[in-house]
Amino acid sequence: MAELSKNDEALVDSPDRTGVQPPAAEAKPAGTAGAPVDRGEPILRVRNLVKHFPMTQGILFKKKIGAVKAVDGVSFDLHQGETLGIVGESGCGKSTVAKLLMSLETATSGEVFYKGQDITRLSGRALKAVRRNIQMVFQDPYTSLNPRMTVGDIIGEPFDIHPEVAPKGDRSRRVQELLDVVGLNPEYINRYPHQFSGGQRQRIGIARGLALNPEIIVCDEPVSALDVSVQAQVINLMGKLQDEFDLSYVFIAHDLSIVRHISDRVGVMYLGRMAEIGTDTQIYDHPTHPYTQALLSAVPVPDPESREVRERIILSGDVPSPANPPSGCSFRTRCWKAEDKCATEVPLLAVPERFAGRDTPAAHESACHFAEEKDVVHAA
Ligand SMILES: Nc1ncnc2c1ncn2[C@@H]1O[C@H](COP(=O)(O)OP(=O)(O)OP(=O)(O)O)[C@@H](O)[C@H]1O
Ligand code: SF4
Ligand SMILES: [Mg+2]
Repeated sequence: MAELSKNDEALVDSPDRTGVQPPAAEAKPAGTAGAPVDRGEPILRVRNLVKHFPMTQGILFKKKIGAVKAVDGVSFDLHQGETLGIVGESGCGKSTVAKLLMSLETATSGEVFYKGQDITRLSGRALKAVRRNIQMVFQDPYTSLNPRMTVGDIIGEPFDIHPEVAPKGDRSRRVQELLDVVGLNPEYINRYPHQFSGGQRQRIGIARGLALNPEIIVCDEPVSALDVSVQAQVINLMGKLQDEFDLSYVFIAHDLSIVRHISDRVGVMYLGRMAEIGTDTQIYDHPTHPYTQALLSAVPVPDPESREVRERIILSGDVPSPANPPSGCSFRTRCWKAEDKCATEVPLLAVPERFAGRDTPAAHESACHFAEEKDVVHAA
């Protein structure tokens, strides 16, 4: 991953990394330019994941009157050492996917395979063992840290559940190492969250996410609440930690430029489903789904000449309610290319037939009956 341009990583450059035991390091594959690289068995395989939240009526006798289809059949793979970005408008189900991956929500149906094992049906000790390897970094560093706990207690809390990672007498040392790894002064161990800036708090959140030496970190809008310059610091830190510990990231965000910067592959979600998924080059330079094309066309273009030639795709109407999504293709009520077939047949997420087997960046998975490339001028 290339460094962001803000040259403010002095804080992060701590030389001593002893004590935090990473999984065996491996060179990150350079699979970002065109066709996907065969990286063997994915570390995470998500298949037809569904989460419907029941809508009920009545106080004593709750009657089910429908369901919010927050996630409605999402599939993707995540490989070791890779970053999969997930983008999409507010309410499309990104955070629900994150919670399902973390087993913080129970899936209505579908599977999440971690190293070949379906973790959606696990409970008790088996679930606890898997959870250690999949950790989360949350959006808001102001609300996700308990204001009454010291930084040492916050970062060391996961050791209460997994004492085998850091026995009681060794915890302070391990927490100080983690502070050092994320570029914070180890002497801050007894400070409280309010004594830190937003960026520093997010570093604390990352240190906590790293405490159990996980293999996968699910990041739900990790920099959205931060100033632009601080975003760059945190993103650079995450890239550095990924290389160092061979971490795999699921990186959820609104900002298409940030997602492109950090991701090897990108999935675009719409109303609980994956509209399109591919390498960053495929999605940003060769999008074939009308929704992705519209999203990209809305990214501001600073260059006045490019701005003049670009075509902005304005989507009509609002995002439909996930409690009552349109039949067939859920994007059809806003799609300028919609035809009769779009109302009756759900488009599957697959490489479109016309591109299948061809050596073209358009040959990636797209859930559209009429997927085709369109030149979109954008600055993401
Ligand atoms: N516990 C819940 N009960 C009922 N509905 C829920 C619940 N959690 C989420 N939803 C609904 O599911 C849909 C998806 O929500 P989710 O938070 O996953 O979206 P999101 O893509 O993360 O949005 P944002 O970008 O605003 O964070 C929304 O319509 C939301 O209101
Ligand atoms: S399937 Fe139809 S409605 Fe859906 S994105 Fe493609 S053209 Fe538009
Ligand atoms: Mg969210």
